Amino acid sequence: MNNKRHLISPMDFSKGEIDDLLELGEKIAKDPKEYANVCSGKILGSLFFEPSTRTRLSFEAAMNRLGGNVIGFSEVASSSVTKGESTQDTIRTISGYTDIIAMRHPIEGAPKAASFTSYVPVINAGDGSHLHPTQTLTDLLTIKALKGHISNFKIGLCGDLKFGRTVHSLVKALSLYENIQFVFISPTELQMPQYIKSHVKNKYCEVRNIEDCIEDLDILYMTRVQKERFCSEQEYLRLKDSYILDRYKLSKAKKDMLILHPLPRLNEINVDVDEDSRAVYFQQTKYGMYIRMALIMKLLGLSEKSLNPIKIPEERIRLYDCKCGNSKCITNTENVEPLFYHIDKDTYGCLYCDNKVKGREIHHDIAN
Ligand code: CP
Repeated sequence: MNNKRHLISPMDFSKGEIDDLLELGEKIAKDPKEYANVCSGKILGSLFFEPSTRTRLSFEAAMNRLGGNVIGFSEVASSSVTKGESTQDTIRTISGYTDIIAMRHPIEGAPKAASFTSYVPVINAGDGSHLHPTQTLTDLLTIKALKGHISNFKIGLCGDLKFGRTVHSLVKALSLYENIQFVFISPTELQMPQYIKSHVKNKYCEVRNIEDCIEDLDILYMTRVQKERFCSEQEYLRLKDSYILDRYKLSKAKKDMLILHPLPRLNEINVDVDEDSRAVYFQQTKYGMYIRMALIMKLLGLSEKSLNPIKIPEERIRLYDCKCGNSKCITNTENVEPLFYHIDKDTYGCLYCDNKVKGREIHHDIAN
C-alpha cells in the first residue's frame, strides 16, 4: 500500500515537483474552465475530524471544479470513530470507496499513520500543531503569483509559532528556495519549535516586536494564537493579543510587502488593514483552491508532468523500548507502531510527529 505518493509533509515533494505543481496551479488560476472534466468519475474522500472552513471547502470546490465527486464528513460525530474505530481502519475502509483522501485530524501524525493503510493517496489537511502542507502550497502559489518568484526574500512569521502548523510547514518548504531569510516574531512562550529552527540553522533571527523588523520585510505572515492547543485558558487570554497589525505599524513597511495570513483571523490584523493593497490574505484563499486542484491532478496522475512514481526514500527505525514523548502523537493515542528516523548520534525523530527522542536501534529500514 505504501509505494504510492502521498502529501503528508511539504518535504514529501522535491523542489522540482513543488515548482511543477505551482506552475500547474498558476495555469489553472488563469483558466480554470480548461480543467473542468479532468477528474470526471473520480471521488475525493473529504475527512475532517477537526473543524475547517477554507481547507475543507476549497478541497471540495477543487474536486467539483475538476468534474469529480466528493464524499466524506466534516465532524467526527457522524463517523464510526465515535464507536472506537481506529484512524487506520477508518482510512483503509474509505480508501476502498474513493480515489484520493484529504484528511484533517487533531492528533499529530494521524495522516502519516493513515497513509500506511490507505489504498489511495492521502493528503494531510492539517494534523494538530504539526504540519499543514496544502496551506504551504497555497502560500507558495500566492507568493509566486504575486511576486513572480520565490527567492531573495526576508519573511517575517508572526504570532503563535509554537502551535501554528502552517508556519512549521511553510518554513520547511521555503528552506528549499534560494536566499530566504526568516524573522520569527513571537512571545517567548510561543517560539518556533527547535526542530524547525534546526532545519533553517543560519537563516533565521528571533524578535519580540513587529516594529523591530517590519521595515525590512518583503513578506509578513501573520498567524492566530491557537486557543484550541492551549492547556490553560488563562495563558491563552494573556497571550492572545500579543500582536495586532494596524495601519500605523504598516506605514513603516515596504510599499510592495505582502501580508499573508492562513486565516481564520481574530484580532491579529485590524480590519482597517484589509483595504491596503499589500493585504492579500483573501486572494490567498482563492489560490488555495487552485493549488488543491493542481495537487489532486498530480496525485491522481492526471497532469502532463507526473510526479515521480517513487517517493523520496524514508528511514523507518525501530528503537529498543522507546515511545514518542509527545502525548498528542498518534502512537500514544492509538495502537500505531512507533517508528523513528535518525537525527544525530543517539537522537531520533518520531516518524509521525517529529518529536525528538533518545534511543538505541533494533531495526533500520529504508522504505520507498
Ligand atoms: N487556513 C486554514 O487551514 O483554514 P481552515 O482551518 O478554515 O481550514
